[in-house]
Amino acid sequence: MSEQYVIAIDQGTTSTRAIVFDHSGSIVSTGQLEHEQIFPQAGWVEHNPKEIWDNTREVIGQALSKANLTRHDIAAVGITNQRETAVVWDKNTGEPVYNAIVWQDTRTQSIVDELAKDGGVERFKQKVGLPLATYFSGTKIKWILDNVDGARAKAEAGDLLFGNTDAWVLWNLTGGTDGGVHATDVTNASRTMFMDLETLAWDQSILDAFGVPASMMPAIKSSSETYGTVHTSQLLREVPVAGILGDQQAATFGQAAFDAGEAKNTYGTGCFLIFNTGEEIVHSKNGLLTTVGYKLGDAKPHYALEGSIAVTGSLIQWLRDNLGMISSAPEVETLAKSVEDNGGVYIVPAFSGLFAPYWRADARGAIVGLTRYVNKGHIARAALEATAFQTREVLDAVNADSGVPLAELKVDGGMVANDALMQFQADILGVDVVRPKVVETTALGAAYAAGLAVGFWKDLGECSANWGEDRRWSPQLEGTERDRQMRLWKKAVTKSMDWVD
Ligand code: G3P
Repeated sequence: MSEQYVIAIDQGTTSTRAIVFDHSGSIVSTGQLEHEQIFPQAGWVEHNPKEIWDNTREVIGQALSKANLTRHDIAAVGITNQRETAVVWDKNTGEPVYNAIVWQDTRTQSIVDELAKDGGVERFKQKVGLPLATYFSGTKIKWILDNVDGARAKAEAGDLLFGNTDAWVLWNLTGGTDGGVHATDVTNASRTMFMDLETLAWDQSILDAFGVPASMMPAIKSSSETYGTVHTSQLLREVPVAGILGDQQAATFGQAAFDAGEAKNTYGTGCFLIFNTGEEIVHSKNGLLTTVGYKLGDAKPHYALEGSIAVTGSLIQWLRDNLGMISSAPEVETLAKSVEDNGGVYIVPAFSGLFAPYWRADARGAIVGLTRYVNKGHIARAALEATAFQTREVLDAVNADSGVPLAELKVDGGMVANDALMQFQADILGVDVVRPKVVETTALGAAYAAGLAVGFWKDLGECSANWGEDRRWSPQLEGTERDRQMRLWKKAVTKSMDWVD
């Protein structure tokens, strides 16, 4: 193969990036653009799908030109994406009928309540691995069909398509109205509420319960195969698009956590701990989701348990953007280090309710333990610590479900650059925390999926060999102090619940 590189598009919650990787899994160049976060009302979060597609094209251009590359250097394109975020568009015009409704959005609570009247929130859990919650795509699609003028009639006439942002990017990249491929992969499909985990097909009875026509749904493909080639109008024309993984599954893949019993935690806007359960579908008894980890071509799928935490990094953004307490996210570390401890303050960032392991839609953010003594440093510290406490609760759930406690935790994502947080994380978990050399594991995972499909990497062993440890933090806190802090954290969590009228 003459092509030297694979490019991954990472369509995330706050930005879209294109990253070029070489065969050793090292980053060659990157393009990145943020997109607008639209908050029309409390609890509503939207993105403009057109802006996302424009940014996708632009970041591909940035990444190629920075390294002086052309399409002839690129063996394949991989796509990874914020999951659950729902885009509905007209297949004849390519125009979205509404903004993308983002995974964090809680407007569909009344739809959840209505559907849960018959069988409770676990009504579909055995089949799809997910409780009824505002988080997943299903209720968001229903909201668009119920609330956008003319949308339901168009959907029933077969004119509308749905996708998470992977499918939106794939459809546009492969030609849009000129023959675009309407497909998704099993990992994204497993976040909609509509895919049967056993058959890996859309479940007609659930689609009917939601009133969503099957004609809107993308074809479900594996995570690693050629879905189509880039349209001739694009910079990467004729390059195969050959890998798709939801971003958290992509990070797991990029961490080379290919086998049962391996896990990773990604620290982004939220935190997502994924525990690979191999070919076995494990149903959690402790508030975790069951999801597809990956599926390579015709091989059997790997499943996973997932602990999703809605708000971690976005709490730091909130300190920056809404309170103006810091002017850049990394400043939070300096501020947190200006004090010895949290001064008794705990922040429960239940901005979208509480996800794993509680799944409490009625929770809202709480800052507790305030006294005259408390200053900005304590608030900054409590904000960072919230990430570590939430991760500990999710890890406890994973350990309880699997019966075999994890001996260490592989970490990645933007916040792992924060040494103070990583040390505190090890302290609160009581196990080592390990950071790999390439922390852009999300994009790397999508690159691996695409590269494996076209023979750029020949097998998983070649990808595993690329993984290298950068740094390890070991617990330094006394067990009794760890227990005391967790006790206070859990007490703070109870204060955030039952808040919505
Ligand atoms: O489930 C939501 C998740 O996929 C979003 O991840 O990294 O874009 O915040 P991120």
